[in-house]
Amino acid sequence: MKFFADTAEIADIKDLAATGLLDGVTTNPSLIAKSGRDFMEVTKEICDIVDGPVSAEVVALDHETMMKEAEVLRKIADNVCIKVPLTIDGLKTCKALTSDGTMVNVTLCFSATQALLAAKAGATFVSPFVGRHDDNGVDGMDLIRDIRLIYDNYAFATEILVASVRHVTHVLESARIGADVMTAPPAVIKNLVKHVLTDKGIEGFMADWAKTGQSIL
Ligand code: G3P
Repeated sequence: MKFFADTAEIADIKDLAATGLLDGVTTNPSLIAKSGRDFMEVTKEICDIVDGPVSAEVVALDHETMMKEAEVLRKIADNVCIKVPLTIDGLKTCKALTSDGTMVNVTLCFSATQALLAAKAGATFVSPFVGRHDDNGVDGMDLIRDIRLIYDNYAFATEILVASVRHVTHVLESARIGADVMTAPPAVIKNLVKHVLTDKGIEGFMADWAKTGQSIL
């Protein structure tokens, strides 16, 4: 499963990229606002750090303007992936851009039938939001199971990009189900490394090493 970082914070992206864990980055208008950075400038910086797809979202709601915005965004770098909302205009834009060889991430997916439409429109990625489903008392991971089943039934090439990931269990379940990608805030990705027995083990080894009175350097 590929790991994308759901952030526009350069320091966090650099930090994760250095671990070799980072396969891409996703941003959205809320994350750009949170960064306080210029959209074009920060997107370019992210594209320079990460080789994989970097999702940059259009903000227009009509197809014609989405296409114009996409034209500007895709000039930023070859690894820009245009993010469009799961609406009829978003799907039209998806179809037009992917037919032209541009990567597209269809976002704000909340149902398996919406995901079916994204695949039929040729999406490179579909982004189902699991955390926001959980917030409403619905198990978001059930949506991922349904999309996996449907995509496998018809051998759709669209990759399932699990989004709105809030905790480690979302990542574990995504991998169990066979999602292609998950995007999570850097803090969630870093939490994956944590285990109480790892910490305890380090503590024990350090204590015993100190008793030897030796040093490696
Ligand atoms: O990038 C979209 C998605 O990951 C947003 O997550 O936590 O705002 O629901 P969240």
